[in-house]
Amino acid sequence: MSTAVVGKGLEGIVAANSGICWIDGDLGVLSYRGIDIHELAEHSTFEETTYLLWNGLLPNELELREFSAQLALARSLDQRIIDMIRSFPKDATPMEVLRTAVSALSFYDADEKDNSHDANVRKSYNLTAQIAMIVAIYDRIRKGLEVVPPDRSLTHAGNFLWMLNGVKPSETAIKTMDLALVLHAEHELNASTFAARVIAATLSDIHSAITGAIGALKGPLHGGANEGVMRLLKIDKEGADPVEYVKNMLAAKQKISGFGHRVYKTEDPRATHLRKMSEQLGNDSGIPKWYEMSRAIELHINADKKLNANVDFYSASTYATLGIDIDLYTPIFAVSRISGWAAHVIEQLDDNRLIRPRAEYIGPAYPSPYIPMEKRP
Ligand SMILES: CC(C)(COP(=O)(O)OP(=O)(O)OC[C@H]1O[C@@H](n2cnc3c(N)ncnc32)[C@H](O)[C@@H]1OP(=O)(O)O)[C@@H](O)C(=O)NCCC(=O)NCCS
Repeated sequence: MSTAVVGKGLEGIVAANSGICWIDGDLGVLSYRGIDIHELAEHSTFEETTYLLWNGLLPNELELREFSAQLALARSLDQRIIDMIRSFPKDATPMEVLRTAVSALSFYDADEKDNSHDANVRKSYNLTAQIAMIVAIYDRIRKGLEVVPPDRSLTHAGNFLWMLNGVKPSETAIKTMDLALVLHAEHELNASTFAARVIAATLSDIHSAITGAIGALKGPLHGGANEGVMRLLKIDKEGADPVEYVKNMLAAKQKISGFGHRVYKTEDPRATHLRKMSEQLGNDSGIPKWYEMSRAIELHINADKKLNANVDFYSASTYATLGIDIDLYTPIFAVSRISGWAAHVIEQLDDNRLIRPRAEYIGPAYPSPYIPMEKRP
């Protein structure tokens, strides 16, 4: 058997064949099923993008209508899930709650034991609708507010904002959220998607795969970075200048959330849209400060470290301007990324082989003696 030693963190390793997403990190290209993210950002919606990711091509009008209706129909949560969420400690983070509740969803999914392609598509509709509901419901419960029933006449983005805030969202808020969801929907073999594929490949089930993906997304080097960005911006409350603060962090060799990327050597193409959105929203709402602080930090880090903003950097100021709590930023990433995770789980299972790499052994030499207890130091 031949083995090859790879770089730390599997850098540069191609670990699967996939027809879902193509990235050129040198040119800053991201495409879903071959369609450039800039085109999707300009023209598509979360529903259409999800259809594209799951089916491989854009829907016609009827297909899109049916798909959107099915996704809206799936907005249903077993009361026992809601009761369970109520029983969680009120200081549990929304990501912990999401991870735990998604795992429990399998108890109440009629297709739980069916790992066929069609059953996984059905479960993907459910998971997509339910993840958004869980995030909104927990936020209301922890704030002592009534749970808002889903509105099936609204889009995925619109219904999420409705269930979160209990007021009809503005067109601008829906459009902003929808665009953020399109931009976050899919990103090839990022850590959470890879985790989902590894779990799916054992012929476990899609709920386990998505639970694992949520656990991976939570980390500050991955989806958790958008919360890190906002915590950084909030240091102005303590009277600190954010650029000076960042300079000190860099001098202390600390990582700045929202910068750098394993794959992109240019600007992350998603950041281009989020920057524009953050600026426009800041101006329109009369709260330009989050954008302005972000831009000042970005210019400094670009100049000093030649590091570019990634998807998480301007999503923070965008969500802040929409009035969304910081610890909901990463869960909102999951509200979108479920579409990509589901596409990958389905693709993995359509042509499965167990994912089982090797490790380069760097431990004590073999054979090392077994030392009896009485002779050990
Ligand atoms: C995304 C990330 C995990 C990629 O990690 P990676 O490919 O392993 O890259 P490395 O951590 O090895 O970084 C390479 C170099 O750039 C520096 N660097 C990378 N990202 C940095 C950041 N955000 N702030 C400061 N320095 C950074 C590293 O310190 C390292 O410098 P060195 O070679 O002098 O030691 C990393 O850029 C990071 O931690 N970013 C912040 C978290 C974040 O925004 N995550 C969301 C990603 S979408």
